[in-house]
Amino acid sequence: MTKSTSRVHPAGDVAVQMQVKRRRLRVATLAAGFSLFALYLAWHAWHDPQSQHQDELPITQAIAQDASSDQAVAVAGPDLVKRGEYLARAGDCVACHTADKSRPYAGGLPIATPFGTIYTPNITPDPDTGIGQWSDAEFLRAMHEGIGKSGERLYPAFPYVEYTRVTDQDVLAIRAYLNTLAPVHYTPPRNDLKFPFNQRWLMTFWNLVNFTEGRFVPDPKQSAELNRGAYLVLGLAHCEECHTPRNFMQGLKSSDRLSGAVQAGWHAFNITPDKNSGIGNWSDDELVSYLSTGVAPGRANAAGPMAEVVTDSTQYLNDEDLHAIVAYLRSVPPVSGGEARPRDQWGKPADDVTALRGQTITSVNGAQLFIANCATCHNWTGQGVGASAPGAYPSLVHNSVAGASDANNLAMVILHGVNRTTKQADVLMPAFGDQLTDDQVAAITNYVTRQFGNPQSTVTVDQIAKLRAQQQ
Ligand code: HEC
Ligand code: HEC
Ligand code: HEC
Repeated sequence: MTKSTSRVHPAGDVAVQMQVKRRRLRVATLAAGFSLFALYLAWHAWHDPQSQHQDELPITQAIAQDASSDQAVAVAGPDLVKRGEYLARAGDCVACHTADKSRPYAGGLPIATPFGTIYTPNITPDPDTGIGQWSDAEFLRAMHEGIGKSGERLYPAFPYVEYTRVTDQDVLAIRAYLNTLAPVHYTPPRNDLKFPFNQRWLMTFWNLVNFTEGRFVPDPKQSAELNRGAYLVLGLAHCEECHTPRNFMQGLKSSDRLSGAVQAGWHAFNITPDKNSGIGNWSDDELVSYLSTGVAPGRANAAGPMAEVVTDSTQYLNDEDLHAIVAYLRSVPPVSGGEARPRDQWGKPADDVTALRGQTITSVNGAQLFIANCATCHNWTGQGVGASAPGAYPSLVHNSVAGASDANNLAMVILHGVNRTTKQADVLMPAFGDQLTDDQVAAITNYVTRQFGNPQSTVTVDQIAKLRAQQQ
């Protein structure tokens, strides 16, 4: 069977519309670019460039500040490094700056963007290939302004849009921790970006529209807990990087903050407090449990990029910070995606395995494929095995992936499995991408959403092929 059989499909129209739209966007971007250039020149002439360096604080001074604000007699060194390690985890630097676990922080991870592939740099203290020769001021400037050592503009695949909110002390604590890492001599591959996106100076325009430089300013009307949560979510923990939708320039649409977005095939769900579309019906404990273990029993499990966030970052946050994050999430304006029911409230157990008996076996019967590939762990009823014990095989009934309004994540979970390591458990669901064809994955996906989840979420074989092609 080939995928190119001429189905009656609106894809042709869509393609034409997209082209027209893209052409219009190109013209609009160009016009915007020129006006912005004029603005930029005016802004530059008006600003005294010298005055921008007020943030640059020698590390010794930061250590002194750190010691005086914490304990007067503390030995600043080890404390600072420990705090830096905690903060580096909160910022999940390791996730992007590690391609090969045997050389952590040495970079080389390909990050797919709509404009091409960016490889993360080496941020170990190696003097030649890492950041060993960077001054603290240069490190602060990178984190706060998105500017590299030689003054070049960094691409926003590096989340400086969020890191700009992090205090000088916290950035310098991270630097102090990075300085203690084993230097790794390794040069990552060169970026593979199409013209004009390989022109770093273009980021000047991007920044004008999509970037506001500046540290987090606490809101005195809000509690210390909520301010701490906002500082983490909007700053170091960069939750918005995945959960906030983007405009046509790939900038964050903060008017729809945390209302969900799709990246590399995965839907980072709406996590605003909307009752149906977001996490409004989760309890505080469920949210804390999800961030620290990857499981909110009976609601959701963390797979894909969120499994990485839990593994590398949120599981290490202390209870205070986790509760602060939850407090902040509750305060965000709820955004409705139009869902009539929460995604973790769909489906019922299958009660009719006998209906399958006596049917001829075909390779694309979703129910049969489910029994053959999934039922050993998730049970033929879909209710899972092991209830809510850590590492249990979860129920697919009332699971946020099966009940989501699109079947992206379900298909991605089948293709790539689940892999998450926490203090509680090594969680592993095998990947079926190598064993199942696109039409088989589509058949299982559609069976699972119809039987255990949101029956309106269906996928086509073409969509599975597209999801499979996404670089992870
Ligand atoms: C979402 C992925 C991502 C995360 C998370 C991330 N970075 Fe990066 N970082 C990048 C990318 C991509 C670049 C390169 C951007 C470019 O080439 O313009 C980069 C560049 C840098 C640079 C500039 C290095 C150079 O050689 O120019 C520094 C310093 C840096 N990151 C530090 C950090 C620290 C510290 C953290 C954690 C607090 C962190 N990054 C987290 C993706 C990430
Ligand atoms: C690298 C991208 C990424 C980052 C960063 C990220 N998330 Fe997620 N998040 C996802 C994806 C993708 C999912 C869906 C996971 C799945 O389907 O199993 C998700 C799911 C969730 C869910 C569960 C929603 C549901 O209904 O199942 C919560 C809660 C959540 N994220 C909170 C956060 C918070 C809080 C942060 C910041 C500390 C954060 N996320 C950072 C990608 C991300
Ligand atoms: C060897 C056991 C095993 C098999 C076989 C298996 N799974 Fe899983 N499945 C798991 C485990 C373990 C998890 C993750 C549990 C967790 O996150 O704590 C999981 C999670 C899931 C989730 C929830 C993901 C999320 O992000 O919420 C879905 C949906 C799912 N599996 C569907 C399937 C389907 C469909 C099949 C058959 C193609 C299948 N599983 C086969 C063990 C298995």
